[in-house]
Order: sequence, then structure tokens, then C-alpha cells
Amino acid sequence: MNCDLIAPHYWWIERLGMGRALELRRRWFLPEIGNAGRALVLGDGDGRFLRELLRRNLLVRADYVDLSRRMLELARNRAGTERVDYRQADALTVEFPAGEYDLIATHFFFDCFGPDELGALIKRVADAARPGARWIVSEFRTPNLFGRLLVSALYLFFGITTGLKTRKLVDHRPILRAHGFRLIKASHSRGALVVSELWER
Ligand SMILES: C[S@@+](CC[C@H](N)C(=O)[O-])C[C@H]1O[C@@H](n2cnc3c(N)ncnc32)[C@H](O)[C@@H]1O
Repeated sequence: MNCDLIAPHYWWIERLGMGRALELRRRWFLPEIGNAGRALVLGDGDGRFLRELLRRNLLVRADYVDLSRRMLELARNRAGTERVDYRQADALTVEFPAGEYDLIATHFFFDCFGPDELGALIKRVADAARPGARWIVSEFRTPNLFGRLLVSALYLFFGITTGLKTRKLVDHRPILRAHGFRLIKASHSRGALVVSELWER
């Protein structure tokens, strides 16, 4: 997947297609994570979540990891360099420090991976999480035919514009549970087409 081409247009395409629904999901649990100290922000794209995290939590230090150079540049311009280490890297292979993070954030990121990749990713990140760590996830769901059509259309769009190979949403919940996380809270909008979840280990 290479998001360089769509990176500067990503926000307005999202706004056109989904209004403010995704932004609402990304921000939903921010009031609950104000005491996080070390955050791993994976596949955050243009940094809209990262900026809000830093704005609301004046102590947190974050590691941002994204595959796309253009996305990383946008995130750095948006969120600044204070308290953030930016890495242009593949989250499937980059080295994470063991037992380091008390907060992990993955918004609309799990949908980039097939089942085996997602299992491997969650395992690697779980190894980098401290006991008691929280993980916030925003993701699409397919509760009905409209949801399935929407997600298929999104996969088609990202397949054409970024070369994304994945075509099917994987249910991340059993994988997170298998790695010791439990779902604390969940919230959804747009008839449960998009959800935010707060997990804790
Ligand atoms: C669908 S976008 C979501 C961006 C942002 N999190 C949001 O909420 O809109 C997926 C992001 O994940 C990044 N990405 C995809 N695969 C990746 C990987 N293996 N490692 C790191 N980043 C990846 C892409 O470059 C892109 O910025």
C-alpha cells in the first residue's frame, strides 16, 4: 500500500464520503486517555489524531509509525516534532521496544491487513505494551448490506489509488482478546458502520 498520492487529499475525500463520522470516532476516547505517558500511534496518516492527542495530553510522548512518506510529512507539519518520534516504516517489521507503551492507537488501520498479517501485527504490538496498557481502535463494521457495500467500495477505492491488496475486513476482536486485551467501552455512529473501542490489558 502506498498512500503518497492520496495523502494531501485524504481529509477532504473522507469528509465528502463520511462527513465528520470518522473524526468523531478518532476523538471519542481522547477524554479517557489524558494520563497516558508513552503512546504508539500506528498508521495515523496525516496526523489529525496525533495532534489532538498532544493537545489534550501535555505529558504524553508518542512514537508515530506510518509507511507513507507524504503522510508522515503531513503529520509532522500538523502535530509538530515536540514529544513525537516519527518513523516511516512498516508496522509489520519495524522493531518496537518491549513492554514500553501504555497507550496504542490504531484508527482505520486494521482494515489494511489480511487475517495472518493482522494476527502478526497485534502480537508484535501486544509485546510492546505494558501491563494495564490501553488500546484505542476505530474501525468500519459491516452490520448490514449497506455496510458491506460501503466497505467493498472503500476497498475498491484504496485498491485503485494505493495498491492495497486486502479486500475483506478482518474481525480484530478475537485477536486482541487472545493477546490479553479486554473491551472496556465501545461507541458507534452511522448505524454502527463505524465504531470506536477502548481496550485494556
Ligand atoms: C486508511 S489510512 C488511515 C489513516 C488514519 N489512521 C485515519 O484514521 O484516517 C491507513 C494508514 O496506514 C498506513 N499504513 C498502511 N499499511 C501500513 C503498514 N504496514 N505499516 C505502517 N503504516 C501503514 C497508510 O500509509 C495510511 O496512512
